[in-house]
Amino acid sequence: MRNIAVLTSGGDAPGMNAAIRAVVRSGINSGFRVFGIKRGYNGLIQGDIQEMHMSSVADIIQRGGTILRTARSEEMRTPEGIAKAVNVANVFNIEGIVIIGGDGSFAGAQKLTESGIDCIGIPGTIDNDLAYTDFTIGFDTAVNNVLDAVNKIRDTSTSHERVSIIEVMGRHCGDIALHAGIAGGAESIIVPEVEFSVDEICRKLLQGKSRGKLHSIIILAEGAGDGIDLEKQIASKVDMEVRTTILGYIQRGGNASAVDRLLASRMGAKAVELLKEGKSGKVVGIKENRIFDMDIHEALAMKRVFHKDLLQLSDILSNNIGD
Ligand code: F6P
Repeated sequence: MRNIAVLTSGGDAPGMNAAIRAVVRSGINSGFRVFGIKRGYNGLIQGDIQEMHMSSVADIIQRGGTILRTARSEEMRTPEGIAKAVNVANVFNIEGIVIIGGDGSFAGAQKLTESGIDCIGIPGTIDNDLAYTDFTIGFDTAVNNVLDAVNKIRDTSTSHERVSIIEVMGRHCGDIALHAGIAGGAESIIVPEVEFSVDEICRKLLQGKSRGKLHSIIILAEGAGDGIDLEKQIASKVDMEVRTTILGYIQRGGNASAVDRLLASRMGAKAVELLKEGKSGKVVGIKENRIFDMDIHEALAMKRVFHKDLLQLSDILSNNIGD
């Protein structure tokens, strides 16, 4: 194999650039010609492909977003789209592709693998919603972005003695809420994986109020409910001021954290190593700080296990009983 390529697909995540850099540089170091595919699978289908050099990835290790741009490709979900993608890869003599993205992107990688293109997936999504790996690239930075906001909101929430609801990303996965909630000392964390009751949240607020605590932070994952709606429900049940902040895309931007840069560098190098060994249809992951690979179909079939113990820990640490 001489020519390999790299693309980013799905929602962007800080650390994707560090992963691109690792693929390009370790690829060239291993004797490959490395190509960059623009705008995810759409760029592959349209032939928007350029050769990359050591210097193409200079000064990007820290930057959020993705220099290759990204897209959620509808065409890649169709047999015609896949056929076009395979054809373009053949025209460019691209025999292996590293796909940086989430589960939707891996499904495309699986199809390409079945069509004879060697594909390796790297988990890049802020959601941390892939069951087979402990962490995805971008998650740590997103949690830190949320924490920055929590710290700031806490200042004003305390000053005004208000309840602050902070709505964070995570349609099906509450990991951003869970990790940022514990690290930010939130009183309540609401995630899509666990049913919650507004009455129970209000009970906690009133318990706090009874001992003079008039400010509280509630972290709500978007998939568990709507922040404004929750604000109205709480305000109708307790005599406290409630304000909601929806963090939105702020979570997905900014310089990648050290953790994400390191993870991306290790995973990028591993993906190239696998292509060099002639492997295909694999995804790279991290477990107990060890980088490993497994079959894409196996990884996609795995069910996520939600860390209920962490939610319980948060309950203990935010307990409003006592002095
Ligand atoms: O998959 C990452 C993610 O940021 C989710 O947390 C969020 O729900 C979604 O993408 C937003 O998608 P879009 O960029 O299409 O608005």
